[in-house]
Amino acid sequence: MDDKRAAEAKKVFGYSADQYILNVVKESCQRALALPSFTGTLQTIKSHFYDRNYDAVFQNPDHLPVYTARYAPSRALCYYHMFLQHPVLLKTLEGGPSNILCIGSGAGSELVGIAAAMVHANPIPKTKKKKTTASTTDEKKKKSSKDKKSADGIEGQEEQDDKGKEVLKDGKDTTLGLENLAMSSTTSMAEAGVEGGAGAGAEVEAGEAKTPVTKKKPKSDKHQVKLVMQDYVDWTPILEPMEQIVRTRMHLGPERLQCETEVGNVLDLSDSLLDRIAAADLITFMFVLNELFQDKKRTMLLVARVVAAMPKGAHMLVVDSAGSFSNLKVGERTYMMYMLLDHLKDLEIVYQDDATWYRCPPGLTYPLKLENMRHFVRIYRKL
Ligand SMILES: C[S@@+](CC[C@H](N)C(=O)[O-])C[C@H]1O[C@@H](n2cnc3c(N)ncnc32)[C@H](O)[C@@H]1O
Repeated sequence: MDDKRAAEAKKVFGYSADQYILNVVKESCQRALALPSFTGTLQTIKSHFYDRNYDAVFQNPDHLPVYTARYAPSRALCYYHMFLQHPVLLKTLEGGPSNILCIGSGAGSELVGIAAAMVHANPIPKTKKKKTTASTTDEKKKKSSKDKKSADGIEGQEEQDDKGKEVLKDGKDTTLGLENLAMSSTTSMAEAGVEGGAGAGAEVEAGEAKTPVTKKKPKSDKHQVKLVMQDYVDWTPILEPMEQIVRTRMHLGPERLQCETEVGNVLDLSDSLLDRIAAADLITFMFVLNELFQDKKRTMLLVARVVAAMPKGAHMLVVDSAGSFSNLKVGERTYMMYMLLDHLKDLEIVYQDDATWYRCPPGLTYPLKLENMRHFVRIYRKL
């Protein structure tokens, strides 16, 4: 980040960007924080989380403002720092127009975190230089010295991958294994929806997957960043006022940030969502995949179809709990969910971290306790 941008950011944020961001969340959540029922509702939410009953958490409109007030602050801070830390993410906020599609983002953490990172981004569209190198060169790829596959504890994975291809060819096997994902997602996964008995019904018929197109940016598109917040719950009562506060406090007019919402179960993968995916420069799954993986078959198919529909060169950011919440039982084995994504042939890993902490710096103030977050991070690039 150049000095000029740093100075501009300081003008907006003042002495502490983190505290400023928290204040934005607090201002957005004022009414929720003042609710006499706040503590009781939060207890109910926590007990539903404990039971992994996510529908019970999110399908009750009374829970939503409380959820945001409690969980969005540290997430927003975490995402803000994440976007600043990774040039490939920050790049999506600069030079635009670019499209960011955030799955399961109704609670507003992505809105606040990404908008805050935009404050550091250069608002002047740059002339695009033709680049031939993959984004791996931009990112310091974090790799352990051990062979990745054996480090992940998946022995004989190559053999499994090959098996996967066989399975798809004859289309008889309906088991849910890594091998079913380790394939070219552009064509074979559509077959998997049919041959593999994906269980998603009419929504997943073969041939529905759109041919990926290399993205073209319309000249008339004036916004710098379009942020699409997708969720299966209508979070408008929370997101609309939050967006206004974010715009005012972070000096982001519509020429810089355009916000849209898309409501629908992501597992249904509507045509409109597929269009959004095909136009996205970045797709995020932040703390949503492990909820989706309650339905393994549909989620594996979803991931494959998302990857198939992504334009070449687009990125996917996946962040979720680094703990057992992200465990996935496949047959007799237990994997971390990112292992399944790591084996998708059409995705290149640009950055990986299996477990990292975001720790809220001491001295920050917020009406509720701020949680430190232990999470994994993956940034993938569509090949
Ligand atoms: C744990 S919250 C994470 C929220 C946000 N991404 C964050 O990091 O703070 C999960 C979000 O995913 C949404 N969600 C859960 N299942 C979904 C589905 N099937 N389709 C779309 N959104 C879903 C919930 O409504 C909720 O907003």
